[in-house]
Amino acid sequence: MSETNTQGPKALDQRPEWHALAKHREELADAHLRDLFAADPGRGGRYTLQVGDLHLDYSKHLVTDETLRLLRELAAATGVFELRDAMFRGERINVTEDRAVLHTALRAPRSAVIELDGQDVVPAVHAVLNKMQVFADRIRSGEWTGHTGKRIKNIVNIGIGGSDLGPAMAYEVLRAWTDRDLTVRFVSNVDGADLHEAVRDLDAAETLFIIASKTFTTIETITNATSARNWLLTELRADESAVAKHFVALSTNAEKVADFGIDTQNMFEFWDWVGGRYSYDSAIGLSLMLAIGPDRFREMLAGFHLVDEHFRTAPPEENVPLLLGLLGVWYGGFHDAQSHAVLPYSHYLSKFTAYLQQLDMESNGKSVDRQGNPVGWQTGPVVWGTPGTNGQHAYYQLLHQGTKLIPADFIGFARPVDELGPLAAQHDLLMANFFAQTQALAFGKTPDEVRAEGVAEELVPHKTFRGNHPTTTILANELSPSVLGQLIALYEHKVFVQGAVWNIDSFDQWGVELGKVLAKRIEPALAEGSAVPGLDTSTTALVAKYRELRGR
Ligand code: F6P
Repeated sequence: MSETNTQGPKALDQRPEWHALAKHREELADAHLRDLFAADPGRGGRYTLQVGDLHLDYSKHLVTDETLRLLRELAAATGVFELRDAMFRGERINVTEDRAVLHTALRAPRSAVIELDGQDVVPAVHAVLNKMQVFADRIRSGEWTGHTGKRIKNIVNIGIGGSDLGPAMAYEVLRAWTDRDLTVRFVSNVDGADLHEAVRDLDAAETLFIIASKTFTTIETITNATSARNWLLTELRADESAVAKHFVALSTNAEKVADFGIDTQNMFEFWDWVGGRYSYDSAIGLSLMLAIGPDRFREMLAGFHLVDEHFRTAPPEENVPLLLGLLGVWYGGFHDAQSHAVLPYSHYLSKFTAYLQQLDMESNGKSVDRQGNPVGWQTGPVVWGTPGTNGQHAYYQLLHQGTKLIPADFIGFARPVDELGPLAAQHDLLMANFFAQTQALAFGKTPDEVRAEGVAEELVPHKTFRGNHPTTTILANELSPSVLGQLIALYEHKVFVQGAVWNIDSFDQWGVELGKVLAKRIEPALAEGSAVPGLDTSTTALVAKYRELRGR
């Protein structure tokens, strides 16, 4: 492990490796990507890496060989590799919850042995996968029928956060691999509109609800699940016996599942060593498995595993998640970058960035270190973005000519999905935009280049592009279940690397608790007008206004 004293490890910004980077940053103050490329004709080819099907170009980053060397030294000094190995070994690296962090075991092959407290967890992982497979086959073949004997044609996943974002994202990404005869919807918001819109055109007799909740106590999910049960029983004019054929649960909490009225036979288990935002390759992925089938689901798991192995074993110079994590440390720590854009050039990745928001921001949105001391350096960035080319006609103006430095990931695919038919002809145009954007962001357009086009002098500053905006390009042959698994594991481990360098616990999420507690206190005041002890004057007045507007 990294060097420690009684207060814990040396503060990041006190380390010589951090100071060396700060000095190096000053030396690079005036560096422009145009100059870095001019000085090294081989840069575009040299600054690339490959992991599995993912080709990564990091040449358009504000880095030199020296930057990368210093960043790797920082990683070594902060114990990234030791923490990584401890994670894979099943040590309790989630210190504030005293839990192991073993999502990598969810995609380990049957032959692997991963012990937690002396017990190999891999057989249990595969037993659940097999149970999911049997169930998926029964639904997809029509063998499992609803209460009235009708075949299940609609799947509604009810969950929130990690029990929604992963399967909802992956279902969108892999739509072309889904059984198009199944309607698959995702309900997360406690706003009744979400459930209403999801079920309003469905036949209850053909509908399966998957209640996904690690804890099975999350108020949004339990509220929506209760409403869904009421809807089903009303629509079917049936009693509680209908629930068994229309409700299954994905959870770690068998007791609460049984309390809710779901037979634990119809529960697919996972474990407390799987964090919610790291869980969609666990039983939480059941809706996805129903949609794409067990074989494709296993291909996806193999994609995850491939990148796990790469992260675990590749040397630092070739380690892609390490590089991505360190680039983020560089921009946050030494360029004051506040945010990070993820810009997929695939419409199927429309929910990809929303998924990454939880993965990254819930993991690394922390301001105390693992020992509880305030950190004196930037931690996780604001992650945002939408698929290209839509963003180009919305916020790319700010990326190109705004005042902020926003590193961005561009993710694209060489081949459009087969199903597009004649529409595949549009793919070259999509990808031409993809390549053009990273070029424009990096190299910009100088005032002289603008003048050479005959632009009036007063407009020259407006039409000049400073450039020097860093981007990563991730290019794969095609979007497949395996490639999706590879991409997600890549980001999981990138987030891990950053949390390790910043010395924060990337696996807890205490920051979501306060709002939950306050909402519970305020809810009765909205309905009954009861006073909430200790409520501030602003919120008290807003509650009164709300009641007035509701005519209460
Ligand atoms: O938002 C907090 C959180 O605990 C997430 O970490 C989690 O993914 C989500 O709520 C849902 O939790 P559960 O799966 O227990 O319903």
